Amino acid sequence: DAGEHDSFMHKEMLEQPTAAARVISGRLDERFGTGHLGGLNLDARELRAIRRVKILGCGSAYYVGQMGATLIEDLARVPADAEPASEFRYRNPIVDPDTLYVAVSQSGETIDTLLAVQEVRRKGGRVIGLVNVVGSAIAREVDGGIYLHAGPEVAVASTKALTNSFLAFAMLAVQLGRVRDLSIADGRRLIAGLQALPDQVGKILAGEDELATTAQRLAEAESLFFVGRVRGFPVAREGAQKFKEISYRHAEAYQTSELKHGPLALISPEVPTVAIVPDDELVERNVAALHEIAARGGPLVVVTHEGVDLGGLSCERIVVPANERELDPILLTIPLQLLAYHAALHLGHDIDKPRNLAKSVTVE
Ligand code: BG6
Repeated sequence: DAGEHDSFMHKEMLEQPTAAARVISGRLDERFGTGHLGGLNLDARELRAIRRVKILGCGSAYYVGQMGATLIEDLARVPADAEPASEFRYRNPIVDPDTLYVAVSQSGETIDTLLAVQEVRRKGGRVIGLVNVVGSAIAREVDGGIYLHAGPEVAVASTKALTNSFLAFAMLAVQLGRVRDLSIADGRRLIAGLQALPDQVGKILAGEDELATTAQRLAEAESLFFVGRVRGFPVAREGAQKFKEISYRHAEAYQTSELKHGPLALISPEVPTVAIVPDDELVERNVAALHEIAARGGPLVVVTHEGVDLGGLSCERIVVPANERELDPILLTIPLQLLAYHAALHLGHDIDKPRNLAKSVTVE
């Protein structure tokens, strides 16, 4: 059972620092600044021959796949993208022998992901799995992979498995990068960042009580936006997904840059926006877009870093610790888990078993 926690989701969120430490344990090579992922079953020459990466998953596994694609493009400069496995398997996909396919699944049993893996293999493609459940159907079907070691996850809303998937992608991206043009210095910088990450996740979780009041306010809205861009966009998508899954509020994710091309028409004092604004190369543009929201009376919650100049914006600010900017997405995701959880708690919903949803969809 969930012990002293009111739900498995709460228990599993708070387990993230220890779960994160487990997934990186024994897999970081500090000396040469690379990952040490033995289960991939790919030597340096095979890793070097990969021309493209295609990531497949459903729900949160798809969103973390989008985060992973950006990590791979940033660090290894290999073209990468994520697609819902449910779409991929039905559209007669072109399977390319120089592409590495990556299937992401907590349960390892999601039927759409499993059948996508089988389709790739049928056509001669190579697939690795980022899977939590050891010996599950997907784990047995793939050519190699990275076990997530998150421990059992019971709540429908995935937390620690998603965090560990991100860390697995980061290690994969560093390892792919280090057989290409990522320098030893950059590799070491990222390895140090990964080592610091579990404690930083713990620090965000320790601020839970402060986030609860913000979440209660958001829960009163019928409709919300979650916005971010580039690295922050999959974070916004995952945040919106969590929020809608368990609070049953309409939560829509958008690229901050696209607001002015449509959804700005919906902004009003009744429609709050949760904005992801890391201290990165896009910070000034992001802040400018938030002023457009504020000018229309839209309430704002900004997830950001210490020291970011919001230019007198009226908003609630949630600050996450700084790490290497490539690793920001997962630290920015943790407060969004807490917001969704506290909104659902406030509304009195069944947090672990939201209506109409199953933990894993294993039949077609
Ligand atoms: C959905 C769940 O049905 O399956 C999501 O509601 C989950 O929470 C998704 O992210 C994928 O599950 P898995 O086990 O393949 O990661």
